[in-house]
Amino acid sequence: MKRDKISKLLGCGEDGQEVIVCGWVRTKRKSKGFSFLVVNDGSCQEVLQVVADESLATYSAVESAGTGAAIKVVGKLKASPAKGQSWEVQALEVVLLGEADATYPLQKKGHSLEFLREIAHLRPRTNTFGAMFRVRNTLSMAVHNFFQSRGFVWAHTPILTAADGEGAGEMFSVTTLDLEGSLPKTDKKQTDFAQDFFGKRAYLCVTGQLEGEFMAQSLGDIYTFGPTFRAENSNTYRHLAEFWMIEPEMAFADLADDMDLAEDFLKCLLRDVVNKCPAELEFFEKMYKNIKVQELDDLANCSFARVSYSEAVEILSKSGKKFEHPVNWGMDFNSEHERFLSEETFKKPVFVYDFPKDIKAFYMRCNDDGKTVAGMDLLVPKIGELIGGSQREERLDLLLKRMEEMKIPMDNLEWYIDLRRYGTAPHAGFGLGFERALLFITGMQNIRDTLPCPRFPGHIEF
Ligand code: 4AD
Ligand code: MG
Repeated sequence: MKRDKISKLLGCGEDGQEVIVCGWVRTKRKSKGFSFLVVNDGSCQEVLQVVADESLATYSAVESAGTGAAIKVVGKLKASPAKGQSWEVQALEVVLLGEADATYPLQKKGHSLEFLREIAHLRPRTNTFGAMFRVRNTLSMAVHNFFQSRGFVWAHTPILTAADGEGAGEMFSVTTLDLEGSLPKTDKKQTDFAQDFFGKRAYLCVTGQLEGEFMAQSLGDIYTFGPTFRAENSNTYRHLAEFWMIEPEMAFADLADDMDLAEDFLKCLLRDVVNKCPAELEFFEKMYKNIKVQELDDLANCSFARVSYSEAVEILSKSGKKFEHPVNWGMDFNSEHERFLSEETFKKPVFVYDFPKDIKAFYMRCNDDGKTVAGMDLLVPKIGELIGGSQREERLDLLLKRMEEMKIPMDNLEWYIDLRRYGTAPHAGFGLGFERALLFITGMQNIRDTLPCPRFPGHIEF
């Protein structure tokens, strides 16, 4: 079925050109012997008005095409007399491809985002979600463009794993054991995973970092970009059980290099989306009023702040603000602290680095003070933590000591430790939560509205 995408017609259509437009009817109205159908085909934010004369041989299709119907229109592109649109299509033939009756849930009135989440299979047809998923697409390509232009190799790290890469125990189990039947048991009466598919316990990955590290320890600079799973019971606007993460890893790099890369990366993403999705961003700015495109552009050109964890604790303690979770050295920041630092203190993205070792993962490099590790978080307004990263512990003895202290099981991480035995080198990387980046850029307020099928506690529909 040959067709002309609306995005293309609006860009370089010509008066009188014969076109074939396929799309879904947003609205229809009648006036003086004509029907006016507003059609969107998903290719862009804009709609195209189709004008159909009652005398058309195929007019019955127009009569039956209600809101939500899929239609094909053969017609002529004409400069539009109507305000706010450059082109319309004068129909020569209309084909009703798929009806939608009055039960179609997306009738013209506005719908709450909560309601739209219940019809995730239809919500991409709305302005909001069409815009979101096109921005998501542009942002994905921006990620690849950034790293590819710098010679980073895209590494495909596994989704199934035996190891807890963060040591935080927030893993989903994967098994083919018959959970309805009687599970095989060991002598000690524990489930015998030796009889499971992989011969040992398996999980969905919480990170691709550890495999990314061995790729970087041979290819130099790599990045991952893939789905990540966390079985944390967090019902918040910024947590998902399944999210996408980008994790670059650089050999021969330290924490300062890591922050430099993260800053360049985020700015490049902002610039790319501002340039390539003007209509979508303008829509988010006008509709939800949580972003200003100009400010996104300014951020892409400002320099991010950097403070040590200890300095950040001091800023928070002296701020005079009453936090729900009291501030003291050694605490992990909550979103209220993260947001205060980025929104009120610095009013822009800020890196916090050198965290107390007890609140960070086993792989972060120990600093000489014996108390902190070379980790960093990038905090941004409205979201809090957008990026988490670190220089990795490349020294064998110190890594082993840390893993013992933190009771990290070594049996599935021998290969990770091995890397420190053969040509170990300083290296660093970070992870950017892709959906959090989308929240930041679009100003949407719930992470569940940044991907087609959100997974969170109690929800696995669609
Ligand atoms: O800080 P995190 O847990 O760091 C890592 O996973 C490291 N392995 C990254 C690395 O150094 N290679 O997660 C990184 C980022 C967070 O800053 C946040 O943006 C996002 O991933 N993130 C989540 N996004 C949505 N839902 C969740 N449950 C998330 N958990 C983390
Ligand atoms: Mg983190």
